[in-house]
Amino acid sequence: MSVAVYPGSFDPITHGHTSIIRSGLVAFEKIVVAVLNNPRKSPLFTVDERIELIRESMAEMGAEDGQVEVDRFDGLLVDYCRHKGARIILRGLRAVADFEYELQMANMNRHLNEEVETVFIMADDAYFYVSSNLIKEAAKLGGDVDALVPKPVAERLRAKLG
Ligand code: PNS
Repeated sequence: MSVAVYPGSFDPITHGHTSIIRSGLVAFEKIVVAVLNNPRKSPLFTVDERIELIRESMAEMGAEDGQVEVDRFDGLLVDYCRHKGARIILRGLRAVADFEYELQMANMNRHLNEEVETVFIMADDAYFYVSSNLIKEAAKLGGDVDALVPKPVAERLRAKLG
């Protein structure tokens, strides 16, 4: 079975992310969405909340049972991939601005484990400008971001930020 790990902070998941997962399922039989448990960052949503939001968003998207697994990880991503038996890291690309950071990460991960390959999928152009940080900023300031995030996320943002 072709399994890809799709890692990230997902604070929170957006339609940019869901578009990558939808496209990723064309190429891979299973995607493990892996939420980084990073104690150095101060996220809006806890890891548990982020996982719950991703699961609800996958149900809303109509992902079939077994196609998408949602999990958390600490430590090195390549070690997590080995633990899951996955040889592909899936990452999304939006604008050129993403490229340098992604190139560095892909090369570092290849250095750490050359058996794991990073595969990039272009985000849907409707969501090219969408990032979790911009969503949080706009939502905090009262902006309407409902069209840019799954419904459970829109509801939770309203509950958290008013
Ligand atoms: O959504 P993000 O915050 O851009 O995701 C970044 C992430 C989680 C993919 C990256 O920070 C990561 O893989 N962290 C795990 C630590 C690691 O393996 N570092 C070495 C490779 S750069």
